[in-house]
Amino acid sequence: MKSMEKIVSLCKRRGYLFQSSEIYGGIQGFWDYGPLGVELKRNLKDAWWHDMISGHNELVKPESAPRAFEMVGLDSTIIMHPQVWKCSGHYDLFHDHMVDCRESKKRYRFDQIRGRWVEYQDKKVFVTTMAEAEQELDEVRRRGMKFFKLRNKDADKITVGNESLTLDKLDSTENVLAPDAKSLDTLTEPREFNLMFKTTLGALGGEDDTTFLRPETAQGIFVNFKNVLDSSRVGLPFGIGQVGKSFRNEITPRNFTFRSREFEQMEIEFFCHPDQSQEWYRYWRDRRLAWYKELGLSDESLIMREHHQEELAHYSVGTADIEYAFPFLPEGEYGELEGIAHRGDFDLRSHMEGKLDPSTRPMQVELGEDGKPKYRGSGRDLTYRDEATNEKFVPHVVEPSAGADRGALAFLCEAYTEDEAPDENGKMQTRTVMKLHPRLAPIKAAVFPLVKKDGMPEVAHEIYGELKRHMNVFYDEKGAVGRRYRRQDEAGTPYCITVDTDTLTDRTVTIRDRDTLEQTRVKIDDVVADLRTRING
Ligand code: GAP
Repeated sequence: MKSMEKIVSLCKRRGYLFQSSEIYGGIQGFWDYGPLGVELKRNLKDAWWHDMISGHNELVKPESAPRAFEMVGLDSTIIMHPQVWKCSGHYDLFHDHMVDCRESKKRYRFDQIRGRWVEYQDKKVFVTTMAEAEQELDEVRRRGMKFFKLRNKDADKITVGNESLTLDKLDSTENVLAPDAKSLDTLTEPREFNLMFKTTLGALGGEDDTTFLRPETAQGIFVNFKNVLDSSRVGLPFGIGQVGKSFRNEITPRNFTFRSREFEQMEIEFFCHPDQSQEWYRYWRDRRLAWYKELGLSDESLIMREHHQEELAHYSVGTADIEYAFPFLPEGEYGELEGIAHRGDFDLRSHMEGKLDPSTRPMQVELGEDGKPKYRGSGRDLTYRDEATNEKFVPHVVEPSAGADRGALAFLCEAYTEDEAPDENGKMQTRTVMKLHPRLAPIKAAVFPLVKKDGMPEVAHEIYGELKRHMNVFYDEKGAVGRRYRRQDEAGTPYCITVDTDTLTDRTVTIRDRDTLEQTRVKIDDVVADLRTRING
């Protein structure tokens, strides 16, 4: 059975993920990737970069695309001019609602407090908890019993509602037992909390020196739009991709790496003619969903959620989230992996003219009390002139925005499998295996001499040395070979190469497939090519 507890434990045990600064008790919302984790995340980012940017062939029209297009990359800074965040809207609008508990002095994100109605005699209270979905029901029952001062033998005297609700779905917090409180009605009214991390430039540190760690990589792309156009020969339609760290001071970081305060994004801003933006929006939405499936996320665990009309900014034709059934969510709920948004010309115009007011139509620059632009734009001309038609316009943008950490977490959750496989004595045993796609697997192959004698280690060293030049491989000669296979299964290594007695006479080795357990004999000279085909298809 797949559970978040087992996945988290494997991640720590095998060196996928560690809590940041763990020896000092950890720091909430920050995670370190261990030796296997760093390879997995790097492989995911490399796959994205290759499939979206560097491997894209602009000479050929992809089957489902409206036409051929170009893709280029960018690496912009984490700290940018403070005006960037004023014009992008993050300074004014990038906030979540938080509530404080007057009793426990703890702070929570309003829409993340979950609970159920608990009834005893004629009293009904809404008991909340921040526990993971798997423990939520038990935790609500336990807290409800405690609140009504009931003993275990009286457990059947209370009724716990079937429906798990988040606090924002209630009309009032009057009868709410806050997650860490003993009495009712201790939560304050929800208040806005800006999620950007502030920092200070230079030694003097006045108000004018305040800037922010970027909460998304996207703005680095918008402010470089003209630089890219002027320095490369790209023409519309084209996309600029960027992978990098983003920071959000999340009120309640939780669910392992799902909601972290420091994380990596893989974002594309795709610039096109306004008349074609709907077609491009549909193209990117479908293409990005297909990408996750190609790399191994199953149909059943993925959904595409189109935002309702009322959720959309008025300039937007559509926004869709690709969501995954993370095991920490209640059955039937999904968490966002990637958003694909049609952003119209909001960003380029805001950086050109000054922050636009998204509620105006057509959008106007937002004015301050003095009647002047509230946040002045750069004044630079960010329009595009089509050389063929001479038409000048502000391009529209379609933005597929993915999280590398959420992606890595989804692939880890999907990969975690418990099945049965024979041990070294042929007896069936339960094994834990991480069925990661070979492109994502941290170690592509492990090389074993069957025994540590008869010249087998020497041949295995030779194969290992050759393979190392091409991919990340692992050498192991310690212990029974069955045990060594099991360790690699847990690490997600798709192939194990074993040097045995036959190798010494015919220079062939066995390649064992992690998922099918099938073993095939391959000539040593063909091992690199064979693995390459298996990994890249
Ligand atoms: N430029 C658009 C943008 O940033 P977003 O939906 O806020 O959109 C895009 O973020 C993606 O970044 C999300 O789908 C998610 O994968 C990732 N992400 C956002 N906040 C995150 C967090 N606190 N921790 C981990 N990943 C996060």
